[in-house]
Parts: sequence; structure tokens; C-alpha cells
Amino acid sequence: MAELPGIDFKAVIILAVVFCTGDIPNFAAPWETLQHFTMIKGCIFDLDGVIVDTARYHFQAWRRLANELGFDFTEAENEKLKGVSRVESLKLILNWGGVEKSPEEQAELAARKNDWYVELISNMTPDEILPGVKEFLEELKSRNVKIALGSASKNAPAILDRVGLTDYFDAIIDGTKTTRSKPDPQVFLLGAEALGLHPAETVVFEDAEKGIEAALNGGFLAVGVGDPATLGSAHLVIPGFQNFTFDKLTEALPVKP
Ligand code: BG6
Ligand code: MG
Repeated sequence: MAELPGIDFKAVIILAVVFCTGDIPNFAAPWETLQHFTMIKGCIFDLDGVIVDTARYHFQAWRRLANELGFDFTEAENEKLKGVSRVESLKLILNWGGVEKSPEEQAELAARKNDWYVELISNMTPDEILPGVKEFLEELKSRNVKIALGSASKNAPAILDRVGLTDYFDAIIDGTKTTRSKPDPQVFLLGAEALGLHPAETVVFEDAEKGIEAALNGGFLAVGVGDPATLGSAHLVIPGFQNFTFDKLTEALPVKP
């Protein structure tokens, strides 16, 4: 369709539809509609696997627990724990080992695993920030794009402190602030609310399939960080943040810069 400077014909058509039919078009669903009205004002980052590679520490600590209970599980099974809360992870692991525990025993086991995990992350350094992440956060800051964390982890604030990234975040939503696990969008909706933004103008970066589902369920723009085979439902999948820029993001996502 021809464009005249300053006139967005699709906006005019939609306003005409609203005026003539009384019908308000559904902005939440069609991606094609969103692309003409959205600009990126905020980014919400998952922590584990997006900003730092803590999945291996979770794996180490859970595996130690499983071994104490007399069984083992594989790295492939560990993939299923990504983005899953501590309690839900424990339930899955006990199920793999065919072990039954009372709620009190489960609480004790989860606490034991967390003690080991906390010990492991207490040695983390800024060197463990994944490549390109800090540069991308700096670029967002310089462009006044708001930044939030949306993580299931109750240890998220401690990890951000350890690696020296806390000051980049305008809002931090962690596992202590949520009641529902991904793929429920709660963690990201709370993040957008804390930033004062609408999901459609906010990008979520996630490494877990359940996290991408959560972002899409909340009406966010979703960027998968990792393997397109598992994250293919995202609007865009990147291997990581190395050489990634805000311009590349806006070019790949059909939004106004
Ligand atoms: C998520 C991880 O970010 O946080 C999961 O991907 C983890 O593996 C969950 O179980 C909860 O973390 P924590 O630190 O509260 O036990
Ligand atoms: Mg993750």
C-alpha cells in the first residue's frame, strides 16, 4: 500500500472499522497487526541460561541429591528442568527415580539442594556473564530501553550481585515474587507492570521452551536464546548475545524502531 509521509493507512483503516462497525480489532492476537503499532520500549531477561550459565550448577546440585537418594539422571533429563521452579524440579526428579517423599521431606530435600547450589554460585564472578550480554545491556541503557529480570529463581538477586549486573535492572522479578510457574506468564507480566509497559512493546529473552510459551501467553514479543529446534515458536531465535545489537533486534522483529 502506498505511504504518504506521516499517514499510516492501516491505522486509518482500523479506525474506520471501529467507527463504522463498532468492533474493536483484537490487538493481542495477530502478529501482522502488532507490527504496525509497536515499538520496543522494554526488555525482560530470564536469568539462568540467558545472562549466566547456571544450569550446570543446578544440574550438579540436583544430581548430588539424586545420587544420595540412590539414583542418577542425565543431562538430557536436566533440560526438562530449565525454567521450572525448585519445588516442581524436585517433584520431576523424584518421579524419574521412582522415589516418594512426604511434603515435609520434600521441603527438606529442596533446602538441602539449595544449600549446595548457593555454595556453588557463591564463587561466581563477572567472567561468567555470557558473551555479549553486558554490551547489549549497555546499549539498551544508552537507548533508554527499560530492563527487567523475569526469573523463576529465588537466588536471582544474589547471582546478579555476584556478577555485578544488578544496577542495569530497572525491575527484578524473581521466584519470591511469583506464585505461578512458567508457562504461566505471571513473572513477565509483573515485570512489564513494574516497568510501566504493555507486553506488546516489551521483548522477553528466554532459553527455555516453557519460558517462550510464557512470553507468548502474556502477549510479549519473544526471543529464544539457544536452539531453534526447541525454541522455534519464538518470534526470533538467536544463538546468544555475541555481536547482537538493538538494531538487529528491531530489524528481525517487525516493529517500529
Ligand atoms: C530457573 C531455573 O531459572 O530457576 C531452574 O531454570 C530452577 O532450573 C529455577 O529450578 C528455580 O531456581 P532456585 O534458584 O530458586 O532454586
Ligand atoms: Mg532459563
